[in-house]
Amino acid sequence: MKTLARTSIALFALFALAQTHPASAQDNAKASVDRGKYIVEHVAKCGRCHTPGNTAGEDEHDRRNWLMGGPLQIQPTYPVTNWALVTPRIARRPPGSDSEFVRLLTTGISRTGEPPRPPMPNFGMTRVDAESVLAYLKSLTP
Ligand code: HEC
Repeated sequence: MKTLARTSIALFALFALAQTHPASAQDNAKASVDRGKYIVEHVAKCGRCHTPGNTAGEDEHDRRNWLMGGPLQIQPTYPVTNWALVTPRIARRPPGSDSEFVRLLTTGISRTGEPPRPPMPNFGMTRVDAESVLAYLKSLTP
């Protein structure tokens, strides 16, 4: 009986230890990149506009030019005077500083102090999500 109690206590202690073991900085960085990838590919669909030649539809991305910017593939069905014709490259190093990037994705205000031209959406992301997207973009290799 005593042995059983001791074993239970030891197991409980081990369990508690495993639960409180802090994630390493590396784990956190990987989790951030993974979250950013999920947001970019499956939620915000940045590639729809920031990947050139992507005419195959929402989920068919041209991986060779993934997020490399170029001629915008979509047009409005009614006249919009300031509709953008090209998108910038956002892979690896998006335009502007990190804080400008986070401000854009959280508030919809770009480096110029104005919203970017349509159809760049105002995402209204949380800071954590915007930072994850940035971490993912920076993780991309040529
Ligand atoms: C529906 C199309 C569309 C989608 C989706 C889209 N963008 Fe854009 N984005 C644009 C256009 C168009 C511009 C250029 C705007 C301009 O020239 O003023 C732009 C500009 C930008 C810029 C440059 C802003 C600056 O300060 O110059 C960044 C950074 C950016 N987008 C990031 C993203 C990210 C990250 C995502 C996904 C989370 C995304 N965009 C999704 C269309 C889009």
